[in-house]
Amino acid sequence: MAAEGMRSVLFVCLGNICRSPIAEAVFRKLVTEQNISDKWITDSGAYSDWNVGLSPDARAINCLRDHGINTSHKARQITNEDFLTFDYILCMDESNLRDLNRKGNQVKNYKAKIELLGSYDPQKQLIIEDPYYGNDSDFESVYEQCVRCHKAFLEKSR
Ligand SMILES: *[C@@H]1O[C@H](CO)[C@@H](O)[C@H](O)[C@H]1NC(C)=O
Ligand SMILES: *[C@@H]1O[C@H](CO)[C@@H](O)[C@H](O)[C@H]1NC(C)=O
Ligand SMILES: *[C@@H]1O[C@H](CO)[C@@H](O)[C@H](O)[C@H]1NC(C)=O
Repeated sequence: MAAEGMRSVLFVCLGNICRSPIAEAVFRKLVTEQNISDKWITDSGAYSDWNVGLSPDARAINCLRDHGINTSHKARQITNEDFLTFDYILCMDESNLRDLNRKGNQVKNYKAKIELLGSYDPQKQLIIEDPYYGNDSDFESVYEQCVRCHKAFLEKSR
């Protein structure tokens, strides 16, 4: 369990190789810059089991690298435990949200607040679209959405 004063956030998408590892890495970067990395437990995961153990998509890694960010994340599938241990589970689209709510409802007394990451976007882009079938500029959009949403989320949860 997390120590006193610690908070935790889990970023979730369908496969944990594009959107959610970008979200996780960007969040780590921001809390490090804000000198609050010791206050946050950060992770990401997949709803599906398709990519378990794999590194993020090469285009996600390149996009992060372009912004001076590293990731060593390996895809994992979310577990029932995650609903009990994480304060926030932030996901990317309506389909993720439905899946998470359904899975969460099978976990007794879960504490995680399940939300769309885009609900924090000051530019009101609610959905973070899957860039898997897109191009580099779609990955860049995911990155930019994450930066905006994370800043607002951190501001709100200060
Ligand atoms: C974080 O810490 C560094 C080094 O102590 C300092 O230079 C920087 O201004 C701090 N940043 C914030 C946002 O507090
Ligand atoms: C990336 O990771 C390597 C090894 O862990 C580290 O030396 C380097 O400073 C990191 N780069 C960035 C931009 O964080
Ligand atoms: C990426 O795809 C979009 C939509 O298909 C297109 O408008 C855009 O020009 C493409 N960008 C690059 C860098 O290829």
